[in-house]
Amino acid sequence: MREESLSDVLLGWYDRNGRELPWRVRDPDAMPDPYRVWLSEIMLQQTVAATVRPYFERFIKLWPTIRDLASADDDRVMSEWAGLGYYARARRLLECARVVAFEMEGRFPRDRAALESLPGIGSYTAAAIRAIAFDEPAAVVDGNVKRVMARMHLIQGEPASTAKLVSERATAMTPRQRPGDYAQAIMDLGATVCRPRNPRCDSCPWEASCLARQEGVQDRIPERRRRTGKPLRTGTAYVARRDDGAWLLERRPDGGLLGGTLGWPSSGWDGRRRGPPCSADWRSLDDEVRHVFTHFDLRMEVKVARLPDGASVPDGMFIRSELFDPESLPSLMRKAYAAALPFLRRNGETAAEG
Ligand code: ADE
Repeated sequence: MREESLSDVLLGWYDRNGRELPWRVRDPDAMPDPYRVWLSEIMLQQTVAATVRPYFERFIKLWPTIRDLASADDDRVMSEWAGLGYYARARRLLECARVVAFEMEGRFPRDRAALESLPGIGSYTAAAIRAIAFDEPAAVVDGNVKRVMARMHLIQGEPASTAKLVSERATAMTPRQRPGDYAQAIMDLGATVCRPRNPRCDSCPWEASCLARQEGVQDRIPERRRRTGKPLRTGTAYVARRDDGAWLLERRPDGGLLGGTLGWPSSGWDGRRRGPPCSADWRSLDDEVRHVFTHFDLRMEVKVARLPDGASVPDGMFIRSELFDPESLPSLMRKAYAAALPFLRRNGETAAEG
């Protein structure tokens, strides 16, 4: 389906299923009040619509126009805000209200750069105000929209590496007709149908065009951000033992990760892409080794092999069994050794530490 008709299908769905929310104007001939749009968007930053609803209604009752809010007592606004969290947001709300009321004649700008220069308004909120209040075809890209785009277009990978593509897709799909309704429609789709868990694909107007649905992977997209927020690196460690009992080790280059230490030949995680240290019948262990470095997390595959007596390896050194002390290895390498031991035992080897 072409992007144009996809947006029509979504708008039709929104007309029938969109949520009734107090900041929405459902009359197609009426333009929303930018003040209400802005106030709702600031409240909706990191807070769900159901929580925001009573706060929004109360604020509008107390301060029906931006000039009213700009003239309000700070403490009063703060105490009305209590429960929405993040007081910094409330402080910026007031600052923004005062700039717009007293320096812009009470009118929100529709220009993107002017909006983004206001306190508390970032690129997402500026796009939401431009789309919803002024019907400009600005692409709103919040968490809901990112999820919908990633699933529709089967964009896989860590959020940090896919952000640009997701945002390009969101821009390409934003229609020139009814962009404000489209922005709210896609937010509703993300909040009620294309949910993070258990998406309700049966009720989705875009089901037939959704690539993730076609592949059956909608539950796994987008990839969850990992808890630590650190990048993940992967690599392979090669644990080999010669038939005379000697272990194949290498000294790592000075200055790099684990610089100068003795360990298993390895590849990938430290930026060095190398194959196995020698040809052999390398077997991959089922379980990988995990290790946490200061700046990244590591998942390392462990491959294990037995080498024939007399084998020699250019970059490696064989350490005789009686001289090998696994306790002297860095902990990452010790983990790889511990993972390899059961395999080596099953295959008739005697572990060095008994
Ligand atoms: N989340 C952020 N903005 C929203 C809006 N205008 N309607 C519903 N949910 C939203």
